[in-house]
Amino acid sequence: MTTEYENGQLMMRGHKIADLAKEYGTPLIIYDEDKMTSIMNQYHQIFKSHQVPYSISYASKAFSSIQMIKILKRQEMELDVVSVGELYTALEAGFPVEDIHFHGNNKTPFEIDYAIKAGVRFFIIDAIDEIGLINELAKDLSETDRINVLIRINPSVEVNTHEYISTGQEDSKFGLSLSNGAAKTAIDLIQQSEHLSFKGIHYHLGSQLSESRPFINAITNVFTWLDEEDINIEVLNMGGGYGVKYTQDDVRFPIESGFDEILTHLKETLEASNRPVPHLMIEPGRSITAEAGLTVYEVGTIKNIHGISKYVSIDGGMSDHIRTPLYGAEYEVIPVKLSDDNAQVSTHVVGKLCESGDVIGKHKMLPHDLKRGDFLAVKSTGAYHYSMASNYNQMQKPAVIFVSDSGVREVIRRQSLPQLIENDVR
Ligand SMILES: Cc1ncc(COP(=O)(O)O)c(C=O)c1O
Repeated sequence: MTTEYENGQLMMRGHKIADLAKEYGTPLIIYDEDKMTSIMNQYHQIFKSHQVPYSISYASKAFSSIQMIKILKRQEMELDVVSVGELYTALEAGFPVEDIHFHGNNKTPFEIDYAIKAGVRFFIIDAIDEIGLINELAKDLSETDRINVLIRINPSVEVNTHEYISTGQEDSKFGLSLSNGAAKTAIDLIQQSEHLSFKGIHYHLGSQLSESRPFINAITNVFTWLDEEDINIEVLNMGGGYGVKYTQDDVRFPIESGFDEILTHLKETLEASNRPVPHLMIEPGRSITAEAGLTVYEVGTIKNIHGISKYVSIDGGMSDHIRTPLYGAEYEVIPVKLSDDNAQVSTHVVGKLCESGDVIGKHKMLPHDLKRGDFLAVKSTGAYHYSMASNYNQMQKPAVIFVSDSGVREVIRRQSLPQLIENDVR
């Protein structure tokens, strides 16, 4: 358990959340570091138990920081980056460049050049014209120093998730279609290019998927196509998207049984088409960090519109919690200290930013006697919260701390007021 109540106080690994909030200020994102490492180990274990060549490439967009990347390195993870900024962060943290994979649907020439010069030799091609671009920017490399590439394809499988996080369908800004010939054209072009080596296939079906079925269907579709086109691959990257429990209603992707099913189906498919097992890759993001994190806020203004609604405002909002305003994502909001009589009322928890849509959660059952100065915690905010944070309303980005059995450490300091204007020309 990441968090639990002890004597009415919310705790994480023996630390009172209220004490951490007082020490580091709010809004504060608190991660259970041990929980993250145990999930990384779980991924390693399941692939090891199937005795297949594999790598687990963490999608750094979920949450990236120097200390996070250092943990990933210790845990023998690889890394997926989608921008020069994510790459820079990884390199500054000392992450091995040979374990970094460059993604993105519009890698700029600057980014490609920067990555090649930094030593990145693994790109995921997302569009036909990227092939010529990367080949051109790699022109100074020696004959033996080639850029390994996967192509990102859309395997056209149905996924049951929000439109904004569904990505593997035909009509998408990401990837190349199998049916209209784009994927095959891309492979032909790569094979004719001077500096690129075709290694295999990548797909990412979407996020917050709770069962193995879409991954199994993708394997069937992809290998049917590979057989039809007579294409050999050395690498199969099945993407990320393994679902987490934001609320009690969500179903977490079962890592062990889910990958047992996926890998068993994969082995059967490979056997049927007489292929060797390729190097397998997955790219989990949220499943490693989301449930390990929570955000603590201090309660400010409380408005009771009698007979209609109760609004509780917190000292952050859509600047550090955009997924609810953006696509209606639901979270659990809980008190950091339980009230003595346990009586609860339906409460709208809202941020302090100047948008009516700046809502953290509606109709949350919270203590009736919640008052200014109390703390509230929003659970499962470890992925796509800090990384999606903005300075709207000149809000400062929150501080981030890691808690583990061996102690508490600050990993990102709260953005300071001078930092808000450090790039402004005076
Ligand atoms: C290509 C790719 N890989 C991996 C991920 C990580 O997804 P998740 O955080 O849902 O595991 C994403 C998320 O957008 C992605 O686009």
